[in-house]
Amino acid sequence: MKPSGAEDQHAVTAQNPDPPQIPRWGKDTDQSREIGTSRSDASIYTDPATLALERDRMFRRTWLVADRVEAVPNPGDFLVWERLGQSVVIARQDDGSLFAFHNVCRHRGSRIVSEGGHCEARRLTCPFHGFTYDLEGNVVDVPERDTFDPAHLEGLRARGVAIDTWQGWIWLNFDPENAESLPEYLGSLAAEMGWYGMDEWKFYGGNTWVAEANWKVVLEGFLEAWHTPTTHKKTVRGGFDVARSSFATLDRHSMMVVPITANDIDSAPKPVEHRAVADCQYLVFPNTFVNMFPDLGNMISVFPIDENRSFAQGWVVARREAPEGVDYETYDSNMRRSLGLTDRIMAEDLGIAAEIGAVRDSFAAEGNIYNSLECRITAFHREIEKYLR
Ligand code: FES
Ligand SMILES: [Fe+2]
Repeated sequence: MKPSGAEDQHAVTAQNPDPPQIPRWGKDTDQSREIGTSRSDASIYTDPATLALERDRMFRRTWLVADRVEAVPNPGDFLVWERLGQSVVIARQDDGSLFAFHNVCRHRGSRIVSEGGHCEARRLTCPFHGFTYDLEGNVVDVPERDTFDPAHLEGLRARGVAIDTWQGWIWLNFDPENAESLPEYLGSLAAEMGWYGMDEWKFYGGNTWVAEANWKVVLEGFLEAWHTPTTHKKTVRGGFDVARSSFATLDRHSMMVVPITANDIDSAPKPVEHRAVADCQYLVFPNTFVNMFPDLGNMISVFPIDENRSFAQGWVVARREAPEGVDYETYDSNMRRSLGLTDRIMAEDLGIAAEIGAVRDSFAAEGNIYNSLECRITAFHREIEKYLR
């Protein structure tokens, strides 16, 4: 079953028939009018000082998606995660838990390791003078120890970063002393997205991209679907009934339900279990977009490189069982092919982001206007403001 004209699109319905606890599709639930329309000033996309505030007051205090848990599968595996000017070691411990710490030597500030890998000895040694760290970031060996003031070495460990996992993703928070727990941070989004059970899904792969535009320009391209028939006319085209989307904020996060033409949402049992029949798109504030089909999930996190460039990383996951009536091999190869489709769609989105970036310095680039179909961008800006002021 495929939406008309939407090659490779996944329009199957999920097999979980339970009605939603909170209906999210339909006129009664749509919040677009409540959220409203807005304008923005161009400086929010171009001002280095705004980016510095976003980094220090927002990214530093929010939970961020770092990678899939599959990136560090075994005890002794570690990865070096580098975004936002930070370098973090994420390491799998012998008991299966994860630890994260700043990849910055406490002696004279060298990066401790330059790339991830597997560490049989469970020890990481700084390349400068050889301070050695265990995989929890504790300093366990100091060369020429008796030449140091013992007080300087007492309890010395790499600075910690809060880490947790949810739905098969690794999350970090750079404010371990004050951070609320990840479930608290996710709030009502956790129950909404938890329905999919993505921690049980298969990881199909992913990709990374560099975009020639401010990180918000890239992310905002994912917060509305009405550019689909124009921007994505060569890929997804007419598979969605974007004009009948429903919008909602979920605490600081947001979502929209976009009906898939081939699934005929009007004949679904009431109340409609939107996740079983529609394309549900989520913003995990501040910088992660999640596009959920009933059987396929696509997550993309966008980080600033500087005010004019951004870095995006994407992951594709899918249910392990084929839907009823579809043999597994066909299903599995469709899911594999979806990686290529994601790349083609992303190229279209990043092409538009680059068109916006190309005229960022124009005298005419004064700011934007956002309609009710773009209400999630309005809500997004309001949430950012709360952190920046
Ligand atoms: S800077 Fe790491 S051992 Fe000196
Ligand atoms: Fe798009």
